[in-house]
Amino acid sequence: MELSDLILNNIHQNSALKDYNKITNDKKVYIETYGCQMNYSDTEIVLSVLSDFGYNETTDINDTDVILLNTCSIRENAEMKIYKRLDDLKKYKVKNPNLIIGILGCMAERLRKDLLERKKMVDIIVGPDEYRKVPHLIDKSIETGEKGIAVKLSRVEAYDDIMPLRKEGVTAWISVMRGCDKFCTFCVVPFTRGRERSRNFKNIVDEAKRLNDEGVKDVWLLGQNVNSYRYEGKDFSDLLRSVAVAVPGIRLRYTTSHPYDLSIKLLETMAEFNNVCKYIHLPLQSGSDRILKLMNRLYTVRQYMNVMMAARERMPSIGLSTDIISCFPSETDEDHKLTLDVIRQVRYDGAYTFAYSARENTKAFNMQSDIDEETRKRRLE
Ligand code: SAH
Ligand code: SF4
Ligand code: F3S
Repeated sequence: MELSDLILNNIHQNSALKDYNKITNDKKVYIETYGCQMNYSDTEIVLSVLSDFGYNETTDINDTDVILLNTCSIRENAEMKIYKRLDDLKKYKVKNPNLIIGILGCMAERLRKDLLERKKMVDIIVGPDEYRKVPHLIDKSIETGEKGIAVKLSRVEAYDDIMPLRKEGVTAWISVMRGCDKFCTFCVVPFTRGRERSRNFKNIVDEAKRLNDEGVKDVWLLGQNVNSYRYEGKDFSDLLRSVAVAVPGIRLRYTTSHPYDLSIKLLETMAEFNNVCKYIHLPLQSGSDRILKLMNRLYTVRQYMNVMMAARERMPSIGLSTDIISCFPSETDEDHKLTLDVIRQVRYDGAYTFAYSARENTKAFNMQSDIDEETRKRRLE
């Protein structure tokens, strides 16, 4: 049995502590969120779980019982930002030794015990599939001073029964699936988020109706790989259709798509409903088939362009954006030019461009590359 299981077994047996804490309704939690929209959506889940145990969110970092950072591992600089932030947080711990500091999200999952060893002020580490345990881990840490880790990935956890604790506003997100099975060779997400799993179809439609009743006007359907949603024979376009019909007054969008899973059926559903935004974010990553293959992206440039053309045919005014990684291992000037060709051809409305960042344990980590710093800067630009 792992240490984390041992600690948690004890916690589960200690239900008296849970009951006690449920009634002390004045604890405060301060939370910062980094990374993608899935993390922002998860923060709402964590706040909901914590609220059942008497925690209220505070925006005052100087007056809180718990500080949580919901972190991102996608590129090295995303992690460096968190390390720096943790150094800043030391002063709060010095001021208030009872303060609990916790790391959630993808860095918690990726680095686990290493993070505890490197950053002594961290008390708890909780990965994306273990958020139900956050209150218990906090209690245990307060009670015993022990560090708590819960980082098991799950094949089924989708937090389907948890109503996210949303902030007021006209925009909301509904996470419809979790995890990623694509294993692009550069990417940590399949390791930090685990296998794909989809939420109950009806629960998602009901959640959209509830948001509509609350006055929300703008909903994003979220997933690391949202178009591979599958539930009891229904796919993502079936889901989009049902939500679009159920809440005609809400504008609907979704993210993120993988070109491999974006079907003609989905494009047709998008075109059919006025309340579905005519917008697709479709990461290209590279315009070179050789590099796409090394990335394990599962499509060629031609297939990608066919999807783009099919989208424009059905929705001439559609907004299109993309993600591009420059300087993937072994990328040549020729490969780079092919990427620029696609950019010119598609005439995107927006693009997020990233310099390749080698991530430990991914396949690309061991690929040889000798692209010099100057070339890196030039190509990214
Ligand atoms: N699931 C989404 C993207 C998630 S990550 C998809 O498949 O499109 C968001 C973006 O970060 C990716 O599209 C990619 O462009 C970029 N990215 C991921 N890993 C990276 C790495 N190791 N180095 C640089 N950029 C990376
Ligand atoms: Fe990462 Fe690829 Fe999955 Fe996107 S599809 S999350 S880039 S592995
Ligand atoms: Fe970052 Fe994890 Fe999202 S690595 S991009 S927070 S899935």
